[in-house]
Amino acid sequence: MKVLIVGGGGREHAIAMSVVKSPRVEKIYCAPGNAGIGQIAENVPIEPMEFDKLAAFAREKEVDFTIVGMDDPLVGGLVDVLEAKGLKVFGPRKNAAVLEGSKAFSKDLMKKYGIPTAAYETFDNAQEALEYLKTADYPIVLKADGLALGKGVLICGDREEAEEGVKSIMLYKKFGSAGDRIVIEEFMSGREVSVLSFVDGKTIRIMTSAQDHKRAKDGDRGLNTGGMGTFSPSPFYTREVDEYCREHIYQATVDAMAAEGRPFTGVIFFGLMLTPKGPRVLEYNARFGDPEAQVVLPRMKNDIIEVMEACVDGRLDEIELAFEDNAAVCVVLASQGYPVSYEKGFPIRGLEKFEDVEGYYCFHAGTRLTQEGVVTNGGRVLGITAKGKSLKEARENAYNAADWVNFENKYMRHDIGKAIDEV
Ligand code: AMP
Ligand code: GLY
Repeated sequence: MKVLIVGGGGREHAIAMSVVKSPRVEKIYCAPGNAGIGQIAENVPIEPMEFDKLAAFAREKEVDFTIVGMDDPLVGGLVDVLEAKGLKVFGPRKNAAVLEGSKAFSKDLMKKYGIPTAAYETFDNAQEALEYLKTADYPIVLKADGLALGKGVLICGDREEAEEGVKSIMLYKKFGSAGDRIVIEEFMSGREVSVLSFVDGKTIRIMTSAQDHKRAKDGDRGLNTGGMGTFSPSPFYTREVDEYCREHIYQATVDAMAAEGRPFTGVIFFGLMLTPKGPRVLEYNARFGDPEAQVVLPRMKNDIIEVMEACVDGRLDEIELAFEDNAAVCVVLASQGYPVSYEKGFPIRGLEKFEDVEGYYCFHAGTRLTQEGVVTNGGRVLGITAKGKSLKEARENAYNAADWVNFENKYMRHDIGKAIDEV
């Protein structure tokens, strides 16, 4: 079987590492890929938003199965374009990817179907939003409706800050057209958990839990990033929480999408907050998380191609997922200055140390192969994942391995997974 993976980050490297283990796979292409992915797949110089080129490439190479891992092409309808050419694709169609593509859509869906989430109001007019802020409770949360590279959420401590936020999103278009509409929602406090799932339109299978660290600096300070590190499983995701979510959130979401005529096939990522009143949905994503995939997939025992094919064929009910009874921690090695501004092009040393070491992974995110070897090519450069019998052991292993690689401007958080000391 020939597989095409669309994307070129740490998540796509983790997906490729799982795909390469499937005995049925003879060839993997990745568009555009990166230096690490290039070791197990053939990188193809096509960007994820070049739909027609991707379709033509997949047809020409007789690709049997395409996996779309990124939000932008999913929300833009890449799956529909490829399917129209007779290709078999894993990922939601455009009308289902809206679950991530529009926060107003997902909030209205949750309200209509009684899925627990924060109370909210939606506005497409800045004046009305500003009026609403006069009588609101603080802190309050502002969310640009559309995709904003994970940065479209502002938590505002008081009315003044919120007014500035509304203006920056709706009037000054800080996030472009993603801010044509805004969701203003109740602030919730609690621990966050990411739960990924496979879905075939009707059936949902839950993967093991994980937790991301979104802020740039230790102690959850600094700016929001794409994610500075993850651990899995989350010790805060107890059996009780799991039962509640199964009863009120997971299947209810899949059924709601089907009832709306938008059957969802692919991965649903549930961003949950464990509030004192119980678990609440913070957000949905229509894909694997990055860097959640880097701790969840290495622990999965199933053949990923078998699971993904079952999703596309609508027979996920025949599959049971199985995860290793261990833990994994991923520490992101970033370029100093990320997420604002940073230099790139620095040589990376020590990558060979990961070859043939069981339980350790070096996922490439922003890297590029040059004549001088592999160099840094982005804000998030590598994701160093290690397994261990416990979360503590996995964390020690991951931080040890984070020292195996070096490059100028290397930056990482030192407290990934530290919260687990509290349990
Ligand atoms: P989202 O992109 O919707 O996941 O939001 C990004 C981050 O903002 C989340 O991971 C939370 O840390 C925070 N956040 C989002 N919504 C809320 C809320 N209603 N209350 C408190 N924090 C929130
Ligand atoms: N790590 C969060 C995300 O992928 O959106």
